[in-house]
Amino acid sequence: MELVDDVYQCDVLVVGGGGAGARAAIEARKQNVDVLLVVKGLFGRSGCTVMAEGGYNAAFGFVDPEDSQQLHFEDTVIGGRFLNNQRLVEILVRDAPKRIIELEQFGAAFDRIEPEKFDQRYFGGQRFRRTVHRGDRTGHEMMSALKEEAYRVGVEVLEEVAITRLLTGDGRLTGATGLDLIHGRFLLFKAKAIVLATGGAGRLYSITTNPYQKTGDGYALAYNAGAELIDMEMVQFHPTGMVYPPSASGLLVTEAVRGEGGKLYNAKGERFMARYDPERMELSTRDVVTRAIFTEISQGRGTPNGGVYLDLTHVPDEVIEQKLGTMLKQFLDVGVDIRREPMEVSPSAHHFMGGVRTHEDCRSTRLRNLFACGEVNGGVHGANRLGGNSLAETQVFGAIAGKNAAEEAKRHGYASVPRKALEEEHDRIFRFESGEGVLPYEVRSRLQRTMWEKVGIVRSRQSLEEALREIAQLRSRLNEVTVEAGLRYNLQLLAAVELDNMLLVAEMIARSALLRTESRGAHFRSDYPEEDPRWVKNIVVSRAADGMVVKTVDPVITTLAP
Ligand code: FUM
Repeated sequence: MELVDDVYQCDVLVVGGGGAGARAAIEARKQNVDVLLVVKGLFGRSGCTVMAEGGYNAAFGFVDPEDSQQLHFEDTVIGGRFLNNQRLVEILVRDAPKRIIELEQFGAAFDRIEPEKFDQRYFGGQRFRRTVHRGDRTGHEMMSALKEEAYRVGVEVLEEVAITRLLTGDGRLTGATGLDLIHGRFLLFKAKAIVLATGGAGRLYSITTNPYQKTGDGYALAYNAGAELIDMEMVQFHPTGMVYPPSASGLLVTEAVRGEGGKLYNAKGERFMARYDPERMELSTRDVVTRAIFTEISQGRGTPNGGVYLDLTHVPDEVIEQKLGTMLKQFLDVGVDIRREPMEVSPSAHHFMGGVRTHEDCRSTRLRNLFACGEVNGGVHGANRLGGNSLAETQVFGAIAGKNAAEEAKRHGYASVPRKALEEEHDRIFRFESGEGVLPYEVRSRLQRTMWEKVGIVRSRQSLEEALREIAQLRSRLNEVTVEAGLRYNLQLLAAVELDNMLLVAEMIARSALLRTESRGAHFRSDYPEEDPRWVKNIVVSRAADGMVVKTVDPVITTLAP
């Protein structure tokens, strides 16, 4: 029996079609190799980059001439509470300006103060106005240009295909399997090198800024293939997601609102950030603002809908209209005119600082032909990411991953894929057709609640141990999950495959969070509320014959000691 419906062969397979994947594919293709980009959603329309609003950090010093790459480096490492791989941060701040100029060569256009100078705005945790933007739709501008450039250089694109497994042999990747739900095909991809650019896992949480695709697939794919993952406990909650109406819960309210002067108030009318960070106020780092909002709400000073107020009414109408047009529309759509009345906001799961552990060439520490870039990669942001560093990261490390994957592909031929590996994967996926009647969505929403309540903004030994027990129970329920037969448009099957990934990633986060007996950056333990200097350590997760291994390693420190 033929196990797969089709076989694709390429030098470099890029998994994920957001900013990092697109940039990796472009760079790989420029090295004259065949590049296939596989996207779970639609290229240029799905993923996080296209939704990114506020901007891209690059220390040009156009608005504040005192700014420099050195200060960008320092802000990033201090914001990341010294867990960052400082070598990666050096690369980020060095290459971010070059890569955004290149984006304009691909066709993007960013706001300017003069023809040769970008406008730059304040973002949290940064001493100077550093964030280049296009109003509050920066990611959309980037993705349109990246998509055009990818097609222009000859990247082949396959949309609405979910990669389900990375296949290995002799310590290398040999290819991958995938589900094409549009045409109903189970696919084999043979590749000489693979770039993971699948983004994060915000959908593990019941309230998130992330789109539906962000189910942590890349983390699970890498782990199952034998890669190491780093800092998985470091989950960033964006301080400001929409609260009301419930259908919009979690939707991003960009940090640019605070960058353009937005002020936070509790229900008593107090500008409460004065209690938590009187110097930086609303432009403190995200971890601090998030916990401040969380504390105000939990101590009973929240709004009737369970948030706090974010007010722009003192900002001139024309600034709101020109610089925050998306926000204006997003709130007008639900009957709130932010020029006249405050928004209601509360934290929303946003970004994973952790991810695949790589060297500075974006190569996995364990698998020589696996590369990772963008949010699925770990290490550059440490314990807390500065807003605006993520769009920069996609371009800087996308280009590095693409180039090195192409070089790797040139040095190797295709490896054969054993039938047994395909059989195992086929059985793993199609077993859901004969489950015991539980819908994947049922288990998924239970997991999302567990993660929000027990592995969320505030954690403790007790909550994490409970979470691990619940995750184990939910994993046993995965065996009862049933989906309709067939592949075409079978979203139940996709949800079941994603759920398997989500359960695995949830366990990585909870185990890492349990090990870190301190509070640092985005990781806050109510039973260990202080930062502990002994914990300037990264936590690394990997797979062993008898299960998940969690260990500590020293971070890469080049110049800035804690
Ligand atoms: O708030 C925002 O616009 C998000 C930016 C980011 O996460 O980098």
